[in-house]
Formats: sequence, C-alpha cells, structure tokens
Amino acid sequence: MTQKTLISPSILSADFATLGAEIAAIDAAGADMIHVDVMDGHYVPNLTIGPAVIKALRPHSQKPFDVHLMISPVDPLLEDFANAGADIITVHPDAGPHTHRTLQAIKGLGLKAGIALNPGTPIDAIDYLMDDLDLILVMSVNPGYGGQSFIRSQLTKIKALRERIDAVGRDIILEVDGGVNPETAPLCRAAGATALVAGSAVFKGAGTYAENIKALR
Ligand code: DX5
Ligand code: ZN
Repeated sequence: MTQKTLISPSILSADFATLGAEIAAIDAAGADMIHVDVMDGHYVPNLTIGPAVIKALRPHSQKPFDVHLMISPVDPLLEDFANAGADIITVHPDAGPHTHRTLQAIKGLGLKAGIALNPGTPIDAIDYLMDDLDLILVMSVNPGYGGQSFIRSQLTKIKALRERIDAVGRDIILEVDGGVNPETAPLCRAAGATALVAGSAVFKGAGTYAENIKALR
C-alpha cells in the first residue's frame, strides 16, 4: 500500500505559554493533524488540558484535531470535546466499562472514533469493534508523558493490526504514538502504520518544525 504517512504532532511538547501560535506553526510546517493529549491525573499520572483549552485553540488551525483521551471515565465528557472542536476522538478500552457504547457515542456526535492500545494491551481488545473504528492508535510508550523511548515489541502489534485492517478492507487509520523519531518512524511505516504522532521529535528536534516533520515522512 503506497499512501502518504500522516504526521500528527503532539502539542504536549509544545510551549504551553503560546499554544495557539505553536499550533499555527505546525500547521504551516506541514502537519496533517494536530494531536491533543488529554490526561486526567487518574487514568494516567499526568494532568494536561481539557475542552476549554481545545476550544480556545480551535481557530488557530483548520487541520483535524486528533484528540487522544487518557481519562476515566470518558463518556460524560465526550460531548464537551465534540463541542470544543475535536474531529477524531480516541479512547482507551480500559478507561470505561463499555467500549462499544463509547465508540457509538463518538460516532453519534458526528466524529471519527479511535481506540488506543497500551503497550501491554493485546490486540484482541479490538475484536468485534472493527466495524466501528476509524482509527487504531498503537501506544509505543506507556501513556502519560512525552519524551519516552519507543518500545520495539509494539512493531509486532502494528504488523498484526495491519493484517487485520487489510482483511476487513475498511479505511482505518493505523497510528503510532510514543518515541516516534526519524529512527523509529521508518520501522513503524514498514510495519504498516499510516499515521505517526510525534511530540519531542517535532517540537524539540534538531531542525525547524517543517524540517522535523519532513524527517519523519
Ligand atoms: C503519551 C502521549 C504521546 C506523547 C508523545 O501519553 O500520548 O502523544 O506526547 O510524545 P513523544 O513523541 O515525545 O514520545
Ligand atoms: Zn497521544
């Protein structure tokens, strides 16, 4: 499959004092999506931003907001994230008791729905959910922080998911998140990923944002 690799910079590594300008800058630098990491200090140890900040950021880019919810419970806040301007909402299956219902709720809000698999989560978490998914996010670090090292065992998972997606023949984005840099990006692509999240490699890489994004493609 020859397909352009989508790059979704994670604003977790951006300058939080100037987030609007940072988003405009990565947009101009060629980002395909804007990855927004939402953490609640409960499902994951870290705490970041919520719907009010996302709503304030929305006018700063027309690119899709790829919102990664690391919160539990997740259902009560889905509508707030939709109203804030999310285009894709990705949830963790162990963040709530009824993943299928959560995915239906996201689709019911008119958004694309994704599921995120932690490094220790087996791929059978997506059994029976393939018809409802627009995106599968493989976590190649444990969720909670930017700047961690890529966990290589996840390449096997990416390959297995690629086969499953090809078998059902649906247009599901296969995205990788965590420790993605110019060395690990080609491994992810070779395994079958179609989208890459990168925080440190874009915002703290050696070059300009445009150069850093280009180095990941
Ligand atoms: C981790 C987040 C990631 C993270 C990626 O919980 O989901 O999106 O910010 O950061 P890097 O690219 O620095 O590993
Ligand atoms: Zn993320």
